[in-house]
Amino acid sequence: MMHTAACIFDLDGVIVDTARYHFLAWKRLTDQLGIHFTEEDNERLKGVSRMASLEIILGIGNRKVNERQKQEYATLKNSWYIDYISKMTPDEVLPGCLTFIEELRNANVRVAIGSASKNTPMILERVGIRDLFDAIADGNIVREAKPNPEVFIKAAEMVGIKPGKCVVFEDAVAGVQAALNAGMMCIGVGSPKILRKAHFVVPGLNEMNLAKLISIEKNIRE
Ligand code: BG6
Ligand code: MG
Repeated sequence: MMHTAACIFDLDGVIVDTARYHFLAWKRLTDQLGIHFTEEDNERLKGVSRMASLEIILGIGNRKVNERQKQEYATLKNSWYIDYISKMTPDEVLPGCLTFIEELRNANVRVAIGSASKNTPMILERVGIRDLFDAIADGNIVREAKPNPEVFIKAAEMVGIKPGKCVVFEDAVAGVQAALNAGMMCIGVGSPKILRKAHFVVPGLNEMNLAKLISIEKNIRE
């Protein structure tokens, strides 16, 4: 018998690789502001909300700006980001994702999104997978950013499953922490060196399937 009744997926970095687009859009802003911003710096923005990302960037550049300017910068960055994501196509869904979700649905496991991004609806629409999910908890409905567990708790509520029966798939350190804070099992997607706190780590969803999930949960929950 399978214990897991719902799987909650982070979007950016787990289902689609939008980190590149976030980077290019932030880079355009930092170039304009004369702040030196590298791909390595971009790692620190993974899973972090838009405004918190901007704070990190302003910190890197040692800039102090007022609230109005911050809003202006965030809006500008987002407009450039939207230019990129509005051109996304279904072939940008990461390998293995669709097969795994299909397998979960056939096993009657609820499937949800738990993402910090306010652009979640547009991305899901563009890559054509909106209808795969029973619920979508995203940056438009939460107040607290990961590692706060709010987004995952909301997702669990939306599909009517208790946190203890949910598994979260996450590529960001803040996201893994959010899942643990929610009392959920967490499977990291990426590097085990970075996602050290996850219960188990796979390099990508192409390395995930139902049988493997059952064996992981057995090892962890026993
Ligand atoms: C997360 C990304 O999923 O969403 C972050 O990993 C991003 O890099 C955050 O800043 C917020 O996204 P958006 O689309 O609302 O600016
Ligand atoms: Mg992510």
